[in-house]
Amino acid sequence: MLSGKRILLGITGGIAAYKTTFLTRLLIKAGAEVRIVMTESAADFVSPLTLATLSRNPVIHNFKKQEEHSTDWNNHVELGLWADLMLIAPATANTLAKIASGQCDNLLLACYRSAKCPVFFAPAMDLDMYRHPSSEKTFKTLESYGNLHIPVGVGELASGLDGEGRMAEPEDIVSFLESHLRKGLPFTGKTVLITAGPTYESIDPVRFIGNHSSGKMGFALAEKAAEMGAEVILITGPTHLQAQNASISCYRVQTALEMHAKTQEHFKAADVIIGAAAVSDYRPVSVYDEKIKKKGASMELQLTENPDIIASLAQQKTKQYIVGFALETENEMEHALDKLKKKRLDAIVLNSLKDPEAGFGGERNKVTFIDKNSDIIPFDLKQKSAVASDILNEIHKRINP
Ligand code: PMT
Repeated sequence: MLSGKRILLGITGGIAAYKTTFLTRLLIKAGAEVRIVMTESAADFVSPLTLATLSRNPVIHNFKKQEEHSTDWNNHVELGLWADLMLIAPATANTLAKIASGQCDNLLLACYRSAKCPVFFAPAMDLDMYRHPSSEKTFKTLESYGNLHIPVGVGELASGLDGEGRMAEPEDIVSFLESHLRKGLPFTGKTVLITAGPTYESIDPVRFIGNHSSGKMGFALAEKAAEMGAEVILITGPTHLQAQNASISCYRVQTALEMHAKTQEHFKAADVIIGAAAVSDYRPVSVYDEKIKKKGASMELQLTENPDIIASLAQQKTKQYIVGFALETENEMEHALDKLKKKRLDAIVLNSLKDPEAGFGGERNKVTFIDKNSDIIPFDLKQKSAVASDILNEIHKRINP
């Protein structure tokens, strides 16, 4: 959820400021770009150098730039507009009260007033300060401005008292941000199961029956579905690709039988299933223990049929919306419609090897989305991530008419 998000982290002067080193690390690890503005007093609790190193950006705390003789200044309007979200953590009683009363006497407050993005605040104060009626009044005022309140934790406080007032733990702050960002996304609350890549059917310890699938189409679908809010179960045949988004659980298999077993394991949890894998229709009847020696001008290999993974899932369908792929080389539409019907799918995505650059291996694909009501939607040649968006948008329209 936080991948690629631009986060303006405002740090104010409380002991919990030391935790912003961990918070910054978590945000960076989640793929966010972080810029930090702190109040003068925050720098007494945590070193700007540490935060600059962790955030990979200079940390600023006043309007005028620090460089000698510089007449340049830190532009709060630019920073406020740059951010996809602003997070004030820890938010001290003083800064919260200033925000509530409209004061703007430091760079952090000026950034706050300039930010058009969602603003989150994570209060941190001692027990009795937290319990003072003015705290509740302040929180309510900020909430009435549309700011999002990250509740405090309960436990040991710097004063030695025990109770409410601790800043939420960095992990909890990150989860709070993520669940907020997930809200309103098209696939929030949905689990999408995707198969990707080729399958390898062993002949002997050295050789196998495989195909040219790289896994790129399936992985692009997985990343996009996760970006669109889904929990993703990605079951992939052999590929060097790595899933990036933390909402993707990736399972690696070799053979069609293994892919079949893994999809069965996760079938019940899925709301949407997309079969982007190029599954071998057949496997050798038996796998030789030793490397087969060359014997003569020809040899025969006996094959047996693999289960049709997507068709068997469609047979057990309860709530799932099930989409297959068809990679064709001739009579494309006819074959795709035939597969859609025979496998009893909700939709099929046709890609043809006759379209230059489409299909296996490359970065781009050209697909036609066909649903069971014969609604046919052709798309242009695009990057596989854009193709994935098109497919998921078509699915979304059909599961949320
Ligand atoms: O991985 P890339 O290099 O990015 O390439 C992407 C792709 C070309 C592999 C992908 O876009 C694609 O078209 N995947 C399906 C390829 C295919 O082999 O289709 P098929 O016509 O054989 O199978 C039709 C559908 O049944 C597919 O959804 C397939 O996953 C499924 N199937 C097929 C056989 C089988 N035993 N079990 C299955 O589930």
